[in-house]
Amino acid sequence: MSGDIGKVERGEWSSRVGFILAAAGSAIGLGNIWRFPYVTGQHGGAAFLVLYLLCVLVVGLPIMVAELTIGRFSRRNPVGAIEVIRPGSPWKIVGYMGVLTGIFILSYYSVMAGYTLGYIGKTVARSQITFADFTANAWISIPLFLAFSVLTVLVVQGGVRDGIERWAKILMPVLLCLLVVLIIRAVTLEGAGAGLSFYLKPDFSRVTIKTVLAALGQAFFSLSLGMGAMITYGSYLSKKDNIVTSGCYVALFDTLIAVMAGLIIFPALFAMHMDPAEGPGLVFVVFPKIFAAIPGGNVIGMGFFLLLSIAALTSTVSLLEVVTSYLVDERHWLRRHAVWIVAGLCFCLGVPSALSMGIVPALGDLPIPGGSILGFMDWLFGNMMLAVGAVLISIFTGWVWRVSRAAAEITIGYPGFGRISVILSFMLRFICPVLILVVLVFLILDAF
Ligand code: TRP
Repeated sequence: MSGDIGKVERGEWSSRVGFILAAAGSAIGLGNIWRFPYVTGQHGGAAFLVLYLLCVLVVGLPIMVAELTIGRFSRRNPVGAIEVIRPGSPWKIVGYMGVLTGIFILSYYSVMAGYTLGYIGKTVARSQITFADFTANAWISIPLFLAFSVLTVLVVQGGVRDGIERWAKILMPVLLCLLVVLIIRAVTLEGAGAGLSFYLKPDFSRVTIKTVLAALGQAFFSLSLGMGAMITYGSYLSKKDNIVTSGCYVALFDTLIAVMAGLIIFPALFAMHMDPAEGPGLVFVVFPKIFAAIPGGNVIGMGFFLLLSIAALTSTVSLLEVVTSYLVDERHWLRRHAVWIVAGLCFCLGVPSALSMGIVPALGDLPIPGGSILGFMDWLFGNMMLAVGAVLISIFTGWVWRVSRAAAEITIGYPGFGRISVILSFMLRFICPVLILVVLVFLILDAF
C-alpha cells in the first residue's frame, strides 16, 4: 500500500536539513532550558542526568523513530495516521489523546513562554522585580501569555515550509552559539567547581522510582514524544529521507542543548550559593544573577531571553500544528480558522495556570501533584499522559502495525535498514512497553 493516500494537498519540508531543524526546534524549548535544569536540581543532579541520558537512548530514540515512521507512511495527523494503518479500530483513541494532550500542554507552556518574553524587557530595563512578583502581576503575565499565543498562531498560519521551517533554520544555530558563550562565563565563575561536581559526579544512593519517572517523563517532554507531534512532523517528510539518522540528529541536538543548559545553570548556581532544588522558578532566578555578574550582562541577558522565547516559539508551533493538522486533514477546516480557534481555546484553558503563579495564591498551593494548577497540568499532561501515549505508540507499532511494516517504510529512504531492524523491533515490542508500564504502575501506586 502506498503512503500517499491523502486527498488534500499537503506541505513537505524543503530539505532534510529543514526537517531536522524544524523537528529539533520542536524538541528544543523551555523543556531543555527551563524544565531540565530544575528537574535535575530537584532530583539530585548527576545521577538524574545519567538516568535521563539512558531514557533518551533506550526509550526515546525507538519511539522517535516509530512516530516519524507512522507519520511518513500515513501522511496524516495522529488521528488520521492510525485510521490509515488500522481503519475502524479503537487505536484511534491514541490519536485523540495526543490531540487533547497537545491542547493542554500548549495552554500552560504558553504561560511560561510569556514569562520568557517578559524577561527580555525586564533585562533591558534592569528591573529588580523578583520572579515571584513578576508572575503575581496579572497586568504583566496575562498580556504576555496572550502575546505569545498570537505569535504562535502567526507562525503556524504560514504553513509548513514558509512558517515553521524558515524560522527554525535561522534561529536554532544562533541559540547554540549563545549557549557556548554562557557556558564559558559560568564555568569560570569563582566556586563553579562545586556545581560541576553536583551536575557531573553521580550519587546513585539517592535514586528512587520517582527519579526514574521524572527522567522518563523529561525525556518524552523534551523530545516532543508521546502525543504525535513527531507523527505530524514525520508526515511532511519526503520518502527519500533517512528516518533513523534524521531522528538521531534531532535527539542528539535536543540532548546537547539540555546538557549545555545544565553546564550554565549548576556552576553559576553553586558559585552564587543558591539552592538547586528551587523548583520551576530556577532559571528565572539564576540567569538574571549571572547576567548581573558580567560586563555587558544586560545585552547578553536580553539576547538569551530572546532566543529562549524563540526556542519556546518553535515548540508551541509544533503543539499547535498537531491540533491544526488534525482539524485540517480530518475535519476539513481552513488552516486559517483552525489556528485561531484552537489558540483561543488554549488561551482560555491556560488562564487558571497563569493565575496559579501568584495572582490567585489559593490556586498555587493545592493538595494535588505539582502543587499549583500549572504544576499539576505539567504533571498530568507533560508527564503522565506523554508516558501513557508513548507506551501505546510503542505497542501499536510493535504489535499491531508490526515492526516489519514500519521497517519497510524506513527502508525506502534507508536501504541498509533491514540489518538493524531487529534492534528496533526488540526495543518497541519489549523494552519500551515494559519499562514505561513498570514506571507508570509504581507512580500510580505511589499516588494512593
Ligand atoms: N519539547 C518541547 C520542549 O522541550 C515541548 C514540546 C513541544 C512538546 N512539542 C511537544 C512536548 C510535544 C511534548 C509533546 O520545550
